[in-house]
Amino acid sequence: MDGDFDSELAELAALTAAHLRHELDMANPFLPRVPAPELASQEAPISAESVGTEPVAAEPVAAEPVAAEPVATPMVQAPSTQAPSTQAPSAQAPSAQAPSVPDDPATALRVIQARAAECTRCRLHEGRTKSVFARGSLSATVMFVGEGPGYHEDQQGVPFVGRAGQLLDKMIGAMGLGADEFYICNVVKCRPPENRTPTPDEAAACLSYLEAQIEHVAPRVIVALGRHAAHNLGVGDGRWRGRWGTFQGIDVMPTYHPAFLLRSPEQKRPVWQDLQAVLTKLGREVPTR
Ligand code: URA
Repeated sequence: MDGDFDSELAELAALTAAHLRHELDMANPFLPRVPAPELASQEAPISAESVGTEPVAAEPVAAEPVAAEPVATPMVQAPSTQAPSTQAPSAQAPSAQAPSVPDDPATALRVIQARAAECTRCRLHEGRTKSVFARGSLSATVMFVGEGPGYHEDQQGVPFVGRAGQLLDKMIGAMGLGADEFYICNVVKCRPPENRTPTPDEAAACLSYLEAQIEHVAPRVIVALGRHAAHNLGVGDGRWRGRWGTFQGIDVMPTYHPAFLLRSPEQKRPVWQDLQAVLTKLGREVPTR
């Protein structure tokens, strides 16, 4: 009798411990105990086979784009998210979607990346070391879109390789996405001076590159990182974080930028809720460890 009671008690204790572990993981999973071996190393950033970026050694200066998040006022002179840029590209700067772009996504994106590398549509090209196109997989189901490159990204030509990028990789690891399931890029492909937020005309001049990336990668979900990306994807108005929208017919989840989370770690919890919503939209289990 006592033996039965003891084993029931032990079973209950084990169940309670499992439940508590589960709750803890649900609450804040991208800090503790999230194994993401293929994502952990920033010395060897993940780059898409077909985007052809060549990382070089990073300098020790840690300059991140500003990404101040919960600003309530909408941006002025916002570019339309669906219409082409009002700043018509010049003859020297052909549209990213010019007829000569091939249909095959890998080839098309190589062509478009080469155009972005030589782009002079806005003043940001004057200060660039390298244009920053993308890293990740062309068969990704989830596309993460940030604001614009920072110091390290400009040096290496690869997005999200600084501290914010390390946190983004943890977020992706916490979601349980494999290396072939995500693609990372930015609204603007050249670093704004002093990591300032890109102006509306800079974002508008660069938008067709992003539109082409979305078209050719065709992810099932886009995660807009920060208010600037959210705004340029048409989901940045009002109480924007965590509210689904669509862009080019694709579901967009706007959430806080990882650079903001570095300064406000208590905001990781709502971001995790947003990432869980993405997993649910994809019909995937939310990883618990
Ligand atoms: N922040 C961004 O928005 N993009 C990067 O590539 C790096 C930091």
